[in-house]
Amino acid sequence: MKVLVVGHGAREHALCWRLSQSPSVWGLYCTGGNPGINQIARPVPIEPEDIEELRRFAIAERIDLTVVGPETPLAIGIADEFANVGLTLFGPSRAAAQLEASKIFAKTVMREAGVPTADYAAFNDADTAARHVRALGRPCVVKADGLAFGKGVTVCDSPEQALAAIDEAMVKRRFGLAGESIIVEERLAGEELSFFALCDGNDAIPLGFAQDHKALLDGDRGPNTGGMGAYSPAPRYNDEFAARVMDEIVRPTLRVMAAKGAPYRGVLFAGLMVDGDRINVLEYNVRFGDPECEALMMRFEGDLAETLRAVAHGKAHEANFRLAPQSAVTIVLASEGYPGDYRKGMHITGLERLEGAEPSPAKVKWALDKVRIKVFHAATAVREALLVTDGGRVLAVTALADGLDRAVAAAYEAASLVRFEGMHFRRDIGRRALAALK
Ligand code: AMP
Ligand code: GLY
Repeated sequence: MKVLVVGHGAREHALCWRLSQSPSVWGLYCTGGNPGINQIARPVPIEPEDIEELRRFAIAERIDLTVVGPETPLAIGIADEFANVGLTLFGPSRAAAQLEASKIFAKTVMREAGVPTADYAAFNDADTAARHVRALGRPCVVKADGLAFGKGVTVCDSPEQALAAIDEAMVKRRFGLAGESIIVEERLAGEELSFFALCDGNDAIPLGFAQDHKALLDGDRGPNTGGMGAYSPAPRYNDEFAARVMDEIVRPTLRVMAAKGAPYRGVLFAGLMVDGDRINVLEYNVRFGDPECEALMMRFEGDLAETLRAVAHGKAHEANFRLAPQSAVTIVLASEGYPGDYRKGMHITGLERLEGAEPSPAKVKWALDKVRIKVFHAATAVREALLVTDGGRVLAVTALADGLDRAVAAAYEAASLVRFEGMHFRRDIGRRALAALK
C-alpha cells in the first residue's frame, strides 16, 4: 500500500522507518520530511495543518493509509476531512481529539467513565479560580484547558505560585485562547508512566509502556521540555499491569466516547501517575509521544502499516505484532538554549560512525553485543552539503539491547560519537529505573 505520514520530527522518522520495513508498503510519503526521513520516504511539500491540501494530495496519489504524528492536524479535523471522502487515516476525529485538545473535556470523560484521576475544578474567570486556590490549602496544579504545546501546566508548591499561573493564563493570556478556561487540580505524587493503546472505536489492544524524561536537566531539574529521553519497556510494569490499565482506564474511556457519538480511533496515550497500588490518569494525548514513539518503534515487530490499517478500519483484533522483549533507550540531543531560544545551522558530525556503510570500532562492538543503534532526526537540515541543526531537539539516538542497563550504555556510547556546537543531553536517562531494578 501507499502510506502518507503527517509531521516531520523524530517521532515521524521512527514511524516512517518501521513503515518502510512493512512488507505491505511499497510507497511512503512524509509531509515536509527531514534529511533522515528523506532517505526512506518521499517528502511532500505540504504543512501538517493544511488538511485540505493533504486530502487533495491523498486522493491524487491514491494513498491507502495516512498516519498522523502531531496533535494539531487531529484537533482541527484531518480525520473527518479524510473520512468524508473515504480515505483511511490512523488518528481520531476532531470530536475524539478533544481528549487532548481540551483538558476539561478529558476530565469530564474520565469522571463519567469512572477513570481514576486527580480531583479538579474548572474555571472560566480568574477571580473565581483565585478564590478556589486560596480556599484549597493543598498543593495543586494549574492547567490551561487548550493546546499550549506542553507549556500550559504549572505544578505548584504554594498558593502564590498557583495564583501567578492563573494570572499568566487568564489575565496576561500567555497561551491565547487555550488559557481562557483552566482547571485547578489536586497535586499527585508517584511515578510517571506513559501507556499506549491502539483503539478502533469499540475495542483496543495494548501497545506498551514507556517512560519519558520531561525536565531539561539531570535529576528532573530545570524547565519542562517536549521530552529529553525515554525507555521502553518500563521495568516492573508487566502484562498484568497493562491488563489493569486496559480494564480500568482504556476500555471505560472508549465506552464513554462511543456513547458520546465520538468513538475513539487511533493511539490513546495515557499519561499515568502510579503510587503503590493506585493508578491515576494525569492526561490523555491522542497521538504517539515523542520521544516515547522512537523507543516503542525500535521494539515493534510486525507489519506496522497492516496493524495501523486494521485498527483504523475498526478491526483491532486483526492486528498482528509484538514488541521485542529487549529494551530500547532514546537520548535526545538538543541545541544550546533549548527549550528557550537557540541557534540553528550548527554542523553535525559523527553520524557515519553510528550508521551507514563506513566501518567503525563502535559498530563492530555493537554487532558482537547484538545491539542495534538507530538515529532518528528531529530537526536537521542540509546546508551546502553539510548536515546541520535546525531546531531545539535535534536528534533522537536510540539503542536496542538485551536489558535496560545494556541499552542505556549503548545509547550513551552512540550519543558520545555525535558532535555539534552547543549540543547537550541528559546523562541520567533510565538511571532511576536501573536503580529500582537493583
Ligand atoms: P500534562 O501535560 O497534564 O501531562 O502535565 C505535564 C506534567 O505536569 C506531567 O507530566 C506531570 O509531571 C505534571 N502533572 C500534571 N498533572 C499533575 C498532577 N495532578 N499532579 C502532579 N503532577 C502533575
Ligand atoms: N513526550 C511527551 C509527549 O509527547 O507529549
